[in-house]
Amino acid sequence: VDRYTLTKIFETATWAPTHRMTEPWQIKIYEGEAKHDFASLIIESYIRSGYASNGKEEKTRKMMEGVKKFITDIPHHALIYMDKNADQRMYEEDYAAVCAFIQNAQLVAWEYQVGILWTVNPYLYDPVFTSAVGLDDEKHKLVAVLQIGYPERIPQKRKRTPISQKIEWVKRKTER
Ligand SMILES: Cc1cc2nc3c(=O)[nH]c(=O)nc-3n(C[C@H](O)[C@H](O)[C@H](O)COP(=O)(O)O)c2cc1C
Repeated sequence: VDRYTLTKIFETATWAPTHRMTEPWQIKIYEGEAKHDFASLIIESYIRSGYASNGKEEKTRKMMEGVKKFITDIPHHALIYMDKNADQRMYEEDYAAVCAFIQNAQLVAWEYQVGILWTVNPYLYDPVFTSAVGLDDEKHKLVAVLQIGYPERIPQKRKRTPISQKIEWVKRKTER
């Protein structure tokens, strides 16, 4: 996906609602050669967190190869992050705005036939990974990694629960 299109996608996504206009979204895009380093950082984090052992066993070796292939095959990985806030309400407002931004990006991307997969992985909660990508766990919340490219195939739609099961129409005054 060319840089103009990627920029356009994220630029349009900034029309997301943002309380107090904090515009909390920050993006690091890993592409080209940088994907090899990015894959190594992910694998190191998996080993550190015990999600994978140190690569001696066949199963772990296969898993690591799978991660490497997944990361390098996909054209762009956008790490989305934001500043943390000591105030819970402001933190959650900013997190909500970043989530709105992400979905906007997905919807805009589709207009350009570009697919974006929203992922949240264990390494996003690993402070060592956070500092390895040049960020600070005290200051930054890693929100997601978006995998971006032109899809080879379009997945089937996943069924949704009928909305009638989720809506409660509240019309009467509550008894106190
Ligand atoms: C916060 C969040 C985290 C997600 N993390 C992952 C993930 O780690 N891996 C993945 O394959 N999909 C992930 N998804 C995508 C969901 O699996 C996907 O939205 C769901 O399967 C419905 O598919 P659809 O969005 O194409 O309708 C995530 C979605 C959200 C909102």
